[in-house]
Amino acid sequence: MTNTDLEKLVDTTDEWIQARTGIKERRVAADGQTTADLAEAAAIKAMAAAEVTPRDIDAIIVGTTTPDLVFPSTACLVQARLGCLGVCAMDVNAACSGFIYALGVADKFIRCGDAHRVLVIGSETLTRMINWDDRGTCVLFGDGAGAVVLEASEAPGILSTHLHANGDFADLLKADGGVSRGFEGHENGGVHVMMKGNEVFKVAVRTLGQIVDETLAANSMDKSDVDWLIPHQANMRIITATAKKLNMPMDHVIVTVDRHGNTSAGSVPLALDEAVRSGKIQRGEVLLLEAFGGGFTWGSALLRY
Ligand code: UT7
Repeated sequence: MTNTDLEKLVDTTDEWIQARTGIKERRVAADGQTTADLAEAAAIKAMAAAEVTPRDIDAIIVGTTTPDLVFPSTACLVQARLGCLGVCAMDVNAACSGFIYALGVADKFIRCGDAHRVLVIGSETLTRMINWDDRGTCVLFGDGAGAVVLEASEAPGILSTHLHANGDFADLLKADGGVSRGFEGHENGGVHVMMKGNEVFKVAVRTLGQIVDETLAANSMDKSDVDWLIPHQANMRIITATAKKLNMPMDHVIVTVDRHGNTSAGSVPLALDEAVRSGKIQRGEVLLLEAFGGGFTWGSALLRY
């Protein structure tokens, strides 16, 4: 779906969307295509890249805020399709930080010895809960999924993960309905993303700047030790601000927001996938992954590829 397509739905322009967000187009899942469908496709590609089969996987963790069903979890649905029955499978809901959270949980599973090989997926169909009359949100989001296989090894891999949340900000970015609270007042029973964009923007820039410092300090590293920034793809201006904080030249920042929009938990693994498959990222390089989203939640992962 292009910006021009959106001009037909709401009072907006391609120029405004590009200037304020960097987004040119976003993907929308086909009718009937679900978060589990996208997750399964990403999982199969990740396992092929890692040269493992579902039989080699001993846990599945899916970061998502748009599950197919309230339960079973999307992870259970994906597990059944892959056929690795019996292994641990769960969803992690941390909105746009979902993949970083899932990666953090998987890393801990491996470090404590409970799992040897974990399939970590970020998958979303955010467009299913967009109010297409709200120009402040409908131009921002897209659907997508990405996945990695995380494996125990002598040399990490993941150097550290840092996960945070502050529920005091719940009202600035939310999907305002649910099973427990009910769906009263929602048109067609639908839940919609609601955001005070400008306020979210300011906190996101400040918080992501702080997590850069926290991540480097935890690893006794300097900004110059990081080879690539793989940021959450919410807004080009937020990405640029974090890159500046890291003194990272933009040709070492992976950007997909122009083509994908904000795919929430899908965005970081999609960007990672593009960067790896295009050959940009080389073995041994240090990558900083970060995300910020509803909750608020935020987090980072520093890893050696
Ligand atoms: O991933 C989860 C975290 N989410 C984010 O990180 C998103 C953070 N927020 C943002 O990316 C930005 O705040 C937005 C892209 C959502 C909005 O950009 P902004 O520069 O903060 O714009 P604004 O909300 O301050 O609005 C400026 C003007 C307003 O008009 P007035 O009041 O100045 O007349 C809005 O009504 O832009 C108007 N506007 C639009 N105009 C054309 C808002 N949306 C649109 C639109 N097209 N789609």
